[in-house]
Amino acid sequence: MIGVFDSGFGGLTVLSSLFKTLPQYDYLFIADSARAPYGARSADVVTEYTTETIEWLFDQGCTLVVLACNTASARALRNIQQLHLPRHRPDRRVLGVVRPSVEALACLRPGAIPGETTPSPMTGVVAVLATESTIASDSYGIEIRKLAPHLELIQQACPLWAAMVEAGELEGAGPEYFLRRSLEPVLNRPRPPQRILLGCTHYPLLLPIIRRIVPREIRILPQTDIVAESLADWLNRHPEEESRLSRNGQHRFATTDDVNWFASHGSRVLGQPFTAERVRLKAVR
Ligand code: DGL
Repeated sequence: MIGVFDSGFGGLTVLSSLFKTLPQYDYLFIADSARAPYGARSADVVTEYTTETIEWLFDQGCTLVVLACNTASARALRNIQQLHLPRHRPDRRVLGVVRPSVEALACLRPGAIPGETTPSPMTGVVAVLATESTIASDSYGIEIRKLAPHLELIQQACPLWAAMVEAGELEGAGPEYFLRRSLEPVLNRPRPPQRILLGCTHYPLLLPIIRRIVPREIRILPQTDIVAESLADWLNRHPEEESRLSRNGQHRFATTDDVNWFASHGSRVLGQPFTAERVRLKAVR
């Protein structure tokens, strides 16, 4: 079974793409809704929350976990991969979303950007929009400098965007104000970006307003398909991991907060109704 983790229901945007691209597998999705948003939290706290959540996914039988949450990928993944798994779960795998997103931004892998066939390593300017915690980690900067030093990267924190999505505020003067406030520093510069990555699971739900503010010639990349294509590619390259995954096309949903609230908000994002189970996470020391 593949575990998919997000701080909130935004991660269902990624899950929906996984269902389309890799429908054969069983999935268990968990949203830590009781403690979302993660976006302004420190590295220590995000690591603690993420570790507790993936441990629950492991206990349920997931051999592979995708951290759909950028904040968790940026803040917790390295610690989990380098310290937690080798010590406690050497037979499990955890993947994040930052690296595949950078590969897409920089066109580093054929098919890295779904729908674009010509890989042409880019020079020029690209931007990432993400939570304060993701931007403070400089994870995107570190990966770009390593993998595509020819690219100039603008990193922009977008306070409250994820919280607005969690509150169902997707249109109107309020969201428009906060979106303009974070987008203007990205757009009003001598060399604006050619591509903007939505580096947070929640942001695709704000696409109608984002598209109205961002000029047409700038390509906006949601991560949904990028993550699904990258997981398909990873499974091809790791047949030993792929063969451990159960494949009955079954889906389970869990939340750390109210199940009815989560299922009703989440069903709209996923585009299909579902029921969810309530989970109490155990502290991990
Ligand atoms: N889902 C998180 C991410 O992708 C952001 C939402 C939050 O702040 O919890 O970064």
